[in-house]
Amino acid sequence: MSASPEQQLRAYVDYLRDLGIYDLYRRDDPATVLPESLRAALSAKPASVPAARAVTPPAPTPARSPAPPPPVRTAPPVASCPTPPLVASPPPDYFSLDPVTSSAPDLGAPMPKPKSFDALVPVPTRVIPAAERPAALESVRTEIGDCTRCPLAYGGRHKIVFADGDPSARLMFVGEGPGADEDAQGLPFVGKAGQLLNNMIMAMGLKREEVYIANIVKCRPPANRTPEYVEATTCSQFLIQQIDIVRPEVIVALGGTAATYLLGVKQSLASLRGHWYSSRGAKVAVTYHPAFLLRDPRQKGEAWKDLQRVMAELGLKAPARPSPST
Ligand code: URA
Repeated sequence: MSASPEQQLRAYVDYLRDLGIYDLYRRDDPATVLPESLRAALSAKPASVPAARAVTPPAPTPARSPAPPPPVRTAPPVASCPTPPLVASPPPDYFSLDPVTSSAPDLGAPMPKPKSFDALVPVPTRVIPAAERPAALESVRTEIGDCTRCPLAYGGRHKIVFADGDPSARLMFVGEGPGADEDAQGLPFVGKAGQLLNNMIMAMGLKREEVYIANIVKCRPPANRTPEYVEATTCSQFLIQQIDIVRPEVIVALGGTAATYLLGVKQSLASLRGHWYSSRGAKVAVTYHPAFLLRDPRQKGEAWKDLQRVMAELGLKAPARPSPST
């Protein structure tokens, strides 16, 4: 079920609260700075207030006289607030705030161009030995914990989808983000798009367990929408670590989102396909996302061309097709 705009707004507010931002209106700008004269007046000690006079109850009256009136209650003393002196001074800045130069965010601003994974952090010189990779990946998973670093934590995710496959794989696939099936199982590419990806992997002469599969974001975006810039860039730090541990020879970016954030480019998939790129010491090929191929199966032939280039790079041979008699 898709999140309503109210639920999404609520998620963002919760996210800000999680960052420790509770007062969404207060800003350290001139509009909230009290003029000096008013601040001095407010912090001045109140003038001494005379103690409340005790009220003496009336003297007892003879037995048959009417009941005496109840004692008069006195109000507690109230600190008097001195009126600040009227000073002829120019109006404070907040009367002339220029909306163009104020610090209000431009909500309609286009997505900033992301930095490539290579531009974010240098590739470590130390290659982690194959035997240590499972534990190294596990420590990245531990670092992620029950993550609340971005709004996807509040968008209805159930499981964080870390990755699947061989910690020393030569080939890595990077998708966009988990869907409903992945969110339920905690594994990437296990729904319909995952079945197609499995078939693509088998067609390359590999098994799913022999490759490494991960996504740009580890939590399901509400209604399977494309991850937002802040979500993808917040999550990148973990995918970068995973790539640096696995050290694949080739990474296949599945679809535009994977290519955009891995390579720091914002271009059409058509223009990105058919070339080699580099990321974290691996060669990168870009191809169609399996979910797109499910919607437009005519492009499967094109995707197969991309995968054949990858196979040639890795020295892989497609398995012989079973003969019709078998
Ligand atoms: N689509 C993706 O990009 N990743 C998954 O894990 C599943 C579907």
